[in-house]
Amino acid sequence: MLSTLKSVLAKADRGRYAVGAFNVNNLEILQAVIETAVELNSPVILQTSEGAVEYAGMDYLIAMMRVAAKSPVPVVMHVDHGKNLKTIKKAIDSGYTSVMYDGSSLPYAENVKNTKQVVAWAKKKGVSVEAEIGAIKGVEDLVSVSEKEAFFTDSVEAARFAKETKCDALAISIGTAHGAYKSKTEPLLDIARLKKIDSMVKAPIVLHGASGISPELVARTKDYCSMLEDCNRLEGAIGIPDEQIVLAIRNGVRKINIDSDLRIAFTAGLRETIITDHKGIDPRKLMALSKKLMKETVKHKMELFGSKGKAK
Ligand code: G3H
Ligand code: 13P
Ligand code: ZN
Repeated sequence: MLSTLKSVLAKADRGRYAVGAFNVNNLEILQAVIETAVELNSPVILQTSEGAVEYAGMDYLIAMMRVAAKSPVPVVMHVDHGKNLKTIKKAIDSGYTSVMYDGSSLPYAENVKNTKQVVAWAKKKGVSVEAEIGAIKGVEDLVSVSEKEAFFTDSVEAARFAKETKCDALAISIGTAHGAYKSKTEPLLDIARLKKIDSMVKAPIVLHGASGISPELVARTKDYCSMLEDCNRLEGAIGIPDEQIVLAIRNGVRKINIDSDLRIAFTAGLRETIITDHKGIDPRKLMALSKKLMKETVKHKMELFGSKGKAK
């Protein structure tokens, strides 16, 4: 059933678990996420980035997500890292139930001003708004913050920002990073900072850049790489360990964003299939293992986040 971010996260807050927000870019990713949510009886957030909209088109993405939202579990249709105000307005008017405005790289006053504008548009339509304060490092397609530009969220500023903007959820920077290369050593989240922010901010806290970068799946992407002459692609990839995620949830995180883990699962499955199935030309069969590995990934996340069985 189609739900807002606000209602899904309010319930998660009462139950002290987190809801997974998975980036969807095509039909196979979307099916992997929604089928697993239904199998596990878990609420789920389907999110599309500006890169996804550029790739697939907003109308196609909305149409696919609407079908998924007919499922018997709560489904949020969410804009991830919206930076273009025109696109966000279009999403609000076109059926998304939640949008993120990402003004984290702007000066404080400008971030507040733009977030308030988005909140005003959204409230009229009953749409939820996630905003961001602090800057999370890392590089994906259209979401890119260098090591130098990144900074952790200040608790006092976060409290003031949430109060001024009246956002429904707040993304913060406490040591995670976007993409498969999060850190040179094992990332350590600033849990003390999170605790402080959570005690001062009423809005539920969002963790971006939270992929675990499974060493098993990374190894699996390399199994056939000599044949693809592409052996070093994921060299040095490192993610957020499960134990850190559990700590983050215990200390107030209620929405957790996952994209890279799905990308790695997809790539591992596709490489293996292309190398082992020499005769295959049917795209549906070529992507079957990718879908299976993505489903296993989503299942693991829903169990880890504690959202399994929380659909009712
Ligand atoms: O945080 C960013 C998301 O993972 C989206 O990445 O811009 O490559 O679609 P993308
Ligand atoms: P990962 O790159 O860690 O999957 O983070 C995704 C994300 O934060 C999307 O907004
Ligand atoms: Zn993100």
